[in-house]
Amino acid sequence: YDRGIAGSPKQQLAKLFEVSLRVTAPEELDIDPAIAPCQNSKFGDYQCNNAMGLWSKVKGKSTQFKNPQQIGQAIKANLPASEMIDGSSIAGPGFVNVKLSDQWIAKCIQNMLRDGIETWAPKLSVKRVVVDFSSPNIAKEMHVGHLRSTIIGDTLARMLEFSNVEVLRRNHVGDWGTQFGMLIEFLFEKFPSLEVVNDQAIGDLEAFYKASKVRFDGDPAFKERAQRAVVSLQAGEEKYLKAWAEICKISRSGYEKVYEHLGVQLEEKGESFYNPYIPNALELLNKEGLIEDSEGARVIFVEGKKIPLIVVKRDGGYNYASTDLAALWYRLNEEKAEWIIYLTDVGQREHFEMLFAAAKRAGWLPAGDSKYPKTSHVGFGLVLGEDGKRFRTRSTETVKLVDLLTEAKSRCKTALIERGKDKAWTEEELDKTAEAVGYGAVKYADLKNNRTTNYTFSFDQMLNDKGNTAVYLLYAHARICSIIRKSGKDIEELKKVWLLPSKLQAVIAFAVLSYDVIFGLIIVLKDWNAFHYCIRNFKTLGSYTLWTGKIDLAHPGERVLGLHLLQFAEVGEESITNLLPNGLCEYLYNLSEYFTGFYTNCQVVGSAEETSRLLLCEATAVVMRKCFHLLGITPVYKI
Ligand code: ARG
Repeated sequence: YDRGIAGSPKQQLAKLFEVSLRVTAPEELDIDPAIAPCQNSKFGDYQCNNAMGLWSKVKGKSTQFKNPQQIGQAIKANLPASEMIDGSSIAGPGFVNVKLSDQWIAKCIQNMLRDGIETWAPKLSVKRVVVDFSSPNIAKEMHVGHLRSTIIGDTLARMLEFSNVEVLRRNHVGDWGTQFGMLIEFLFEKFPSLEVVNDQAIGDLEAFYKASKVRFDGDPAFKERAQRAVVSLQAGEEKYLKAWAEICKISRSGYEKVYEHLGVQLEEKGESFYNPYIPNALELLNKEGLIEDSEGARVIFVEGKKIPLIVVKRDGGYNYASTDLAALWYRLNEEKAEWIIYLTDVGQREHFEMLFAAAKRAGWLPAGDSKYPKTSHVGFGLVLGEDGKRFRTRSTETVKLVDLLTEAKSRCKTALIERGKDKAWTEEELDKTAEAVGYGAVKYADLKNNRTTNYTFSFDQMLNDKGNTAVYLLYAHARICSIIRKSGKDIEELKKVWLLPSKLQAVIAFAVLSYDVIFGLIIVLKDWNAFHYCIRNFKTLGSYTLWTGKIDLAHPGERVLGLHLLQFAEVGEESITNLLPNGLCEYLYNLSEYFTGFYTNCQVVGSAEETSRLLLCEATAVVMRKCFHLLGITPVYKI
């Protein structure tokens, strides 16, 4: 007897086909089962596409097979019997189509409802992962690019956490570097006594940055002082460190507001943290013979790139790349991460390619992309305004991210009041709902696109309650919950009565077994026919309680929905392995469409199938909520 689904339907089928392939072609051990969902559901649910590939290998050699169709026939014939398969057929040049059994689908859903959605979590082979995301630069603007990094990074971290992986959420803030000399010097000028410095006094840190830059570019004496300040800071002089810490603190309180709104957890380990590790990291690379002199700087050349990675500047200072090398060393050796994921815009692709290539040359990372530890750069496109240009707000040159979120929320609030005049919202309910829907809409609008493309930021589009938006999805979920509520049935009670707890199942399974053994003995000794009859009936009874569906997928609308629910397991796994959250969004949107299809065609409350259908509603709501959770969206129950 089994629990949940051991892997997604696709993985389970792959296991069965693997057995068949080994029997069909015992010599071709390097062929892995190629399983994909059927394009046309008329032919089946999944298909195995190995016949053609196998044919190209055995053609001319085999006496057994004369064409790919025959291989397909053999693959089909050698498939081990399984309760999950209802039937199979051959199509075209040897595709083996498989139809899953309705009972098996139903059973998987029941098990999930009983044992929890965690049983459908992706299974990954890593234990600890660093996700380096958000990472704004101190005193400079935190722009929509950082918002994308924050949103996508948080989702990837959530998916990994759901997969039982330990995630180190790292905010690699730009808190070190030569720009601090200028900022500190400017701070000393404006506030000779550092005691009075605080965010009110400085006001807008970005404006402060710009003003100090003007000063830096316009006054050679100031410039010189600023350069000396960098040296003093890096030498650890107290006065300078204090000024630096002050500037960081003010900046931090700004971007932490964004994280708070979005509900994003991050641990700051900025560039300054890795500074002490740079000399050692460079020394290791030097020992491997990687570092050479080039035009007065120290650089690493990597294959296929014309420009080298500069690791020590001409003035002897370290830079972004030296910091990233030290951070990579630290994450691999001190934090023992097996997978390190970096989120930045696609513009930094080159930097990361060189960084990873250098680490491979040094032997820090294995060659090739499939072995662990590994690194991945998750690049994303630009955020565009509705005019097709880089996104900016009208009022200021740079977008104030918190204002953006606040606007999404207040637009939602207006819409909620408009929709639900009869709904008697308490102020707190209204506020919480507007927040969930507004912030959820901003996140979903970003995540639903393939991240590598640019996306257009439009409040009107993302807050539309029709179409592929968070608003539509959140409403769909709330509606399902209200169907369940209005049925007057307690879903937890239903689950208790209809879905036996797994321990009880084990006890029954044991009882059935013992019963069989005892009666078997009696049969041998006494009346065969009579006892055989008893056993047959008891077995039917026993297996009924154990296996047969409480959920019944007889209607096509129910079956399509049921199968799609099951596929959550494989979509979740594919999204995280490919680092593409848009796959999960697409899944979620389709789920709500299939639910609508089911609900328009199948009466739930008051029908003969009420219990089964309520359980199907509940399973849909559970899966939707898990998708929301992975996307960082808070579900709502009243709309
Ligand atoms: N601070 C950088 C920026 O704003 C992003 C840092 C990304 N992480 C890293 N380890 N380089 O562009």
